[in-house]
Amino acid sequence: MLFGHEKVSFLHLPTPLERLDNVSADLGINVYCKRDDLTGLGVGGNKLRKLEYFLKDAQDQGATMLITEGGAQTNHGRLTAAVAAKYGLKCAIVTADEYPGEISANLLLDGMMGCPVYFVKDMESGRQAVIDKYTAEGENVYYVPMGGSNELGILGYAECAMEMDKQAREMGIADATIFTTVGSLGTYLGLIAGLKVCGSSMKLRGINVLPYAGKGSDKDNLLAYMHDYFDRICDFYGDEFVYKKEDFDSISFDISTDYIHGAYNNAVEEVRDVMYYLARKEAIIIDPCYTGKTFEAVVSEAGRGRIKAGENVIFMHTGGLPGIYTKHHRVELERELMPYMHTDEF
Ligand SMILES: Cc1ncc(COP(=O)(O)O)c(C=O)c1O
Repeated sequence: MLFGHEKVSFLHLPTPLERLDNVSADLGINVYCKRDDLTGLGVGGNKLRKLEYFLKDAQDQGATMLITEGGAQTNHGRLTAAVAAKYGLKCAIVTADEYPGEISANLLLDGMMGCPVYFVKDMESGRQAVIDKYTAEGENVYYVPMGGSNELGILGYAECAMEMDKQAREMGIADATIFTTVGSLGTYLGLIAGLKVCGSSMKLRGINVLPYAGKGSDKDNLLAYMHDYFDRICDFYGDEFVYKKEDFDSISFDISTDYIHGAYNNAVEEVRDVMYYLARKEAIIIDPCYTGKTFEAVVSEAGRGRIKAGENVIFMHTGGLPGIYTKHHRVELERELMPYMHTDEF
């Protein structure tokens, strides 16, 4: 029970918090990794923590089907399909992206788990048409918003912050800075809330991976969305919540927009470089869309002395592995890794 809400527990928690010895020695800081890529169902990832709460809400409402939306390669959609499969619900994903011409990465897993993906021309009307279709067929549809980021969607990461704070205390990791990816904001706001609940001394640094629309700078636009979301959360939970609306201005939202590299889910050489680095130092695989950009921030900020020698950093591994099999990333990876293929030497 958190802020008055229950969940269905289907994860193996706590996820490990492990020290990356090789990377730590190399960067001269203490780097730990919170392995939320190891959350279990459907290849794992951060959205499962949110889905524990959505599933409870859906079951309470007698839902027979989950419908969600996102980019064609939505990790959140894949994990919604995973939870639906496990709990005997139907599922559908709606995307306004074009069909990419191949069934790879998350799309492949969606299909394997029996979840149809609707490529629609317009999200608003397309989503409604899909919901109407299944409702007319007799399904009781529960709609999960993009990225699972609504009021309920912060609960999973509020809980994760408390879990991590306990682990850090037990492991003697003092005053760590958590580096986490900022996409649809739910993970970040959940962590902020959870750290406050347990009075944690840990700091939170968000790495934004997609530009938010608006008239201001990337940072200003993002903060405008954050403010709106924060207000909705305060209204929704009322006195059950740890913050009040008026607290927004006094919270230090330490979020960087320096690692967006211009667009969401683009192929970026610097990101692939840190993906190789982490794979070769620790055998941990990160993805090019989300965690790669966040780990780039860890490496780059350690290199520039923004993270001081000996400081503690927790890199949140939020999953996203299937992303490496997306065509536009795969072609770059294959081109760069071709020298590792020895075809005619012996
Ligand atoms: C692998 C991965 N990491 C991080 C995020 C960002 O989480 P949020 O959308 O809650 O900000 C996402 C969102 O889709 C994701 O798929």
